[in-house]
Amino acid sequence: MDHQGVTIWLTGLSGAGKSTVASLLARRLRAAGAKVEVLDGDVIRTNLSKGLGFSKEDRDTNIRRIGFVSGLLSRNGVIAIVAAISPYRRLRREVRATTENFVEVFTYCPLSTLVERDVKGLYRKALAGEIKNFTGVSDPYEVPESPEVRTDSSTETPDESVDAVWSYLAEAGLIKP
Ligand code: ADX
Repeated sequence: MDHQGVTIWLTGLSGAGKSTVASLLARRLRAAGAKVEVLDGDVIRTNLSKGLGFSKEDRDTNIRRIGFVSGLLSRNGVIAIVAAISPYRRLRREVRATTENFVEVFTYCPLSTLVERDVKGLYRKALAGEIKNFTGVSDPYEVPESPEVRTDSSTETPDESVDAVWSYLAEAGLIKP
């Protein structure tokens, strides 16, 4: 499949579906013959950003590093898919400004649903005060103002969310399926 280098940036709260959409989208793109890399916050924090915490400063550093790598990849024709909370608008804007073909995907999910699901058990701990500065509970998340795509894991299946991203990429001429 013909495609351009793209950075697909998934932003949203923990548990909203960033990693799920990222891996499913990667699988579909690869099956179509595209060159794809996934940069997942949870994974990046075990290597490239090992040692960083969740202060604003550390999150900003984490996002700058991820943005640097995704920029290198997409500049070289790869579809880089990023899955990171990236809670601050300013940093997302900074990465957008330095990245060609930046596609911001807001993976939305109501907080009440995330707390109910609590796949990793982190919301319970955050609400009990056992984890400080937890995004959405005791730390800010700045909602994207004009994302290219918005998904909602409380009303869509992962496949439907991936369809929405795929449609945008095709309509924008970034992939030519
Ligand atoms: S970011 O803010 O720097 O973009 P990133 O996406 O890399 O965050 O990492 C988020 C993951 O770290 C969450 O999915 C969760 O598993 C874990 N985590 C641990 N502590 C926190 C916290 N205080 N706030 C948010 N996520 C946390």
